[in-house]
Amino acid sequence: MALAGLVITLLGAPLLFFSYAEAGEVGVTYGRLGDNLPDPETVSQLLVDNGITMVRLYDADEAVLTALANTGIKVTVMMRNEELAAAAASRSYALQWVQCNVSAYYPDTLISGVAVGNEVFKEAPELNSQLVPAMNNVQLALEELGLADAVKVSTPIAFTALKDTSVPSSARFRDDIAQSVMVPMLQFLQRTGSYLSMNPYPFFAYAEDPQNIQLDYALGNYKPGVRDRNTGLVYHSLLDAMMDATYYAMENLTGSLNVMQATGGGSTPDTQWSENGWGSQGQVKPAKPPRKGSRGLQQAGNGFQPATVANAKAYNNYVINRVLSCKTGTPHRPNADMNIFIFALFNENQKGQGPNDVEQYFGLFYPNMTKVYDFDFRSGNVGL
Ligand SMILES: *[C@@H]1O[C@H](CO)[C@@H](O)[C@H](O)[C@H]1NC(C)=O
Ligand SMILES: *[C@@H]1O[C@H](CO)[C@@H](O)[C@H](O)[C@H]1NC(C)=O
Ligand SMILES: *[C@@H]1O[C@H](CO)[C@@H](O)[C@H](O)[C@H]1NC(C)=O
Repeated sequence: MALAGLVITLLGAPLLFFSYAEAGEVGVTYGRLGDNLPDPETVSQLLVDNGITMVRLYDADEAVLTALANTGIKVTVMMRNEELAAAAASRSYALQWVQCNVSAYYPDTLISGVAVGNEVFKEAPELNSQLVPAMNNVQLALEELGLADAVKVSTPIAFTALKDTSVPSSARFRDDIAQSVMVPMLQFLQRTGSYLSMNPYPFFAYAEDPQNIQLDYALGNYKPGVRDRNTGLVYHSLLDAMMDATYYAMENLTGSLNVMQATGGGSTPDTQWSENGWGSQGQVKPAKPPRKGSRGLQQAGNGFQPATVANAKAYNNYVINRVLSCKTGTPHRPNADMNIFIFALFNENQKGQGPNDVEQYFGLFYPNMTKVYDFDFRSGNVGL
C-alpha cells in the first residue's frame, strides 16, 4: 500500500505540474506610428477591457509603461536598432538602459521581456555581429539588478532569416548568419532560459506567391494538406509549416555542433512568435496574379487583393482560437506551446508608403477603438 502510494505520488507530481502549465498565450503588438491614436491611458484600459494579457512595444516609452502599471499585463519592451551598437560596446550603457527602461517601472509594470533590436538581419544587417554582444550586455545588466529571472532577453527575427522554407524539414538559417550569429544566439538563449523570437507571416508568404500557396492554407485551414516530402508530415496550416521550419532550422544548428551539451541543455530553446498578422485592406507590392481557380480568393477590381476584412478576421481568429483551445502543437512538435503576438493593436496611418499600403491596415482596432472585425481574447469562438 505504502509503496503503491509513493509511486502514485511520484508519478502524480509531474503530471499535475504539466497539466497546469500553460499551452501558450496570445498577445498583441502595440505600435504607435499613427497621428490619430488614443493616449496610452485609454489604450491600457482598452487592453484590460478586451482581456488582452500580453503586449509588445517597439520602444520603452515612459507614458506607455506608466499607463500599463498595475494592470497585470505582461510587457515586452524594445531596445531600438539605433541603440544596439552602444549596448554591444558598453556594459555601462546597457546597465543604464535597463535601469531607465526596465527597473524604473518593474514590478508595477510587469515587464517580462526585452527585445534587443528589431529584425536586425533584415533592417540593419550591418549590426549583425553586434547583436549577441548587445543581448549579452543587457542580460548582464538584468543579472546585476536582480531581474534576470523575471525579464528575458531575446531579439525578434524576420522569417527571411531562414532559407529553403517551402519544405519545413529542409529549412535552415541563412549561411551568412547561421554559424556567426545564430549559434552563439541559441547558446545564449538556452543558457539564460530565454526563447527564440520569430516573426512568421503566412500573409506575406501568400501575398508574394499566390500561384503556389492556397489562401486556405495561409488562413490555417487547408483540408487537403501539404506534405513535407522528407518527413511525410502533412500540414493544413502555413503557420504550422513556418513554425516547424523554425524548429528544424534550430535543430540543425544545435544538432550539428552539439552546442547545447556544454550548457547541460537538452534540445533547442523555447520559441516566441513575436509578430504575425493579416492586413484588412491596402495593397501588397509587388502583387502577382493568383493561381487560376484558386478557392476563396478575394478580388478588388482587377487586382489580386489578399488584405480583406474577411481574411484578416479569419486568420487572426484562427490564431486566437489555436491558443485558447490549447491546440498549440505542430506536426513536428505536437507538444509545443504557442506564445504569439498579433500584429497589431491599431491601424497605424504613418506606417509604410502611404494610405494604399497594407502596412497601415494590420490593426485589430481602428484608431477610434472600434474593432475592425469581431474577435474575443477571452473565449475565442467568434463565428466566422
Ligand atoms: C531608454 O534609456 C536610455 C538611457 O540609457 C534613453 O536614452 C532612452 O531614450 C530610453 N528609452 C527608450 C525608448 O529607449
Ligand atoms: C544540417 O543541414 C545540412 C544541410 O541540409 C546537413 O547537411 C547537415 O547534415 C545537417 N546537420 C544536422 C545535425 O542535422
Ligand atoms: C471608427 O472608424 C472607422 C474607420 O474609419 C469607422 O468605419 C467607424 O464607423 C468609426 N466608429 C465610430 C464609433 O466612430
